[in-house]
Amino acid sequence: MKKKLWGGRFTRPTDRAVERFTHSLSVDRRLARYDLLGSIAHARMLGKTSIIPRKESQQLVRTLQILLSNLERGKLRIDPAAEDIHSAIQSLVEKKAGPAAQRLHTARSRNDQVVTSFRLYCAEEAENLRKSIRSVQKEILHQAEAVQQIILPGYTHLRHAQPVLLSHLLLSYLEMLQRDQDRLCSARCQTMEELPLGSGALAGTGLPIDRRMVARELGFSGLKENSIDAVTDRDFAVELLSALSLLSVHLSRIAEELILWSTAEFGFLRFDERLLTGSSMMPQKQNPDFLELARAGSARIIGNLSAMLTLLKGLPSGYQRDLQLDKEILFEALDRAEGMLAVLSVGFHGIRWNRQAMATQLKDESLYATDLAEYLVAKGVPFAEAHRAVGQLLAHADRTKTSLKNLPLATYRKFSAVFGRDAVRLLDPAASVRRKRSAGSTNPAEVARQIRRWKKIS
Ligand code: ARG
Repeated sequence: MKKKLWGGRFTRPTDRAVERFTHSLSVDRRLARYDLLGSIAHARMLGKTSIIPRKESQQLVRTLQILLSNLERGKLRIDPAAEDIHSAIQSLVEKKAGPAAQRLHTARSRNDQVVTSFRLYCAEEAENLRKSIRSVQKEILHQAEAVQQIILPGYTHLRHAQPVLLSHLLLSYLEMLQRDQDRLCSARCQTMEELPLGSGALAGTGLPIDRRMVARELGFSGLKENSIDAVTDRDFAVELLSALSLLSVHLSRIAEELILWSTAEFGFLRFDERLLTGSSMMPQKQNPDFLELARAGSARIIGNLSAMLTLLKGLPSGYQRDLQLDKEILFEALDRAEGMLAVLSVGFHGIRWNRQAMATQLKDESLYATDLAEYLVAKGVPFAEAHRAVGQLLAHADRTKTSLKNLPLATYRKFSAVFGRDAVRLLDPAASVRRKRSAGSTNPAEVARQIRRWKKIS
């Protein structure tokens, strides 16, 4: 039988099936660093408060620090048979620190230990993910800057709507991703607000621990006020997953747009061949599988959010072993989000835009209908009337299969008397974007301002 943290009460070894089923080392080994950091702070505090002899506290801290440096160098040898990472580290400490190791778990339960490590892990990963978002944003900003002259049709309902600057559209991705960063930031803060360690199994401890000292060392801003809440609460993991879900929804939207634009039908862009994958049967194929998987990733992450909420619903107070599964749910979502960000970053880097394909679409005169209506409004026509007049003008052009550019002024005037010769000048993409003047619009000056702002903050 593998040595457990809890063997005393038992006379017979754990059933093999139960052991296998309850084992979590393969999942929670990535908490090693955070378990060690938590234990270092705990051991130091036990010495400072004279709960354990100072010498033994120092010996524990030293041993744990060696283990941490071994871990960082990829040299920590974790026994694969241990129940979980916390037991595995305890046995390593026992091997290296001798009798002092028997004092490490004083005034501590795995219940407060596990959730402390988990919080530290979540906080650090939220920060890492934020950095990965920034890298994608940098690539997008780089593209937005490079394509400032390019105009494409903006779509609603996937139908031609109004011309917009390609940079403007790309900058809209930056906005989405910035909110994702903010959400990760607040999930991180919330996670580090209150230290659970020192709550023991659920009731606290009779020993004179100093929780504030531990909180300070680990970077928590305060203490969990209630020891039962401390060991039961996983709100922080839900908050993080929910930030990840929204991030993944944004990434899947971006992936879908790029897929669509790279089709033969749109042809707005091509990817570097190294990003594409082939077909085993159709020799001609070069598929954007990487983006399809990025689009699909959100399905898993949203599923994980739902799994976490379902795991927590109806749980009684206090630690329940159900809570062990919180980690694999969150880890999987984090890995997937990181993977999605990584491919989108190379994806944006490897884009070649096809300006000609966009220009071809911009010949559709219906794209300028709203500009024509606003032209009439500027001449005093009520908007509803202008809307109707332009609608009728377009219907007429459609019916007679004539371009608006070739219709005589007299025909325009049949629909609204205030049309002038200058109206045809509106049937032009550059004129269309230049006419926009509201803050945040697709006007080139406005978009250039947005780019300058992004360059300052990134
Ligand atoms: N691996 C477990 C977890 O992550 C450890 C906690 C076990 N605690 C207990 N009281 N049985 O939740």
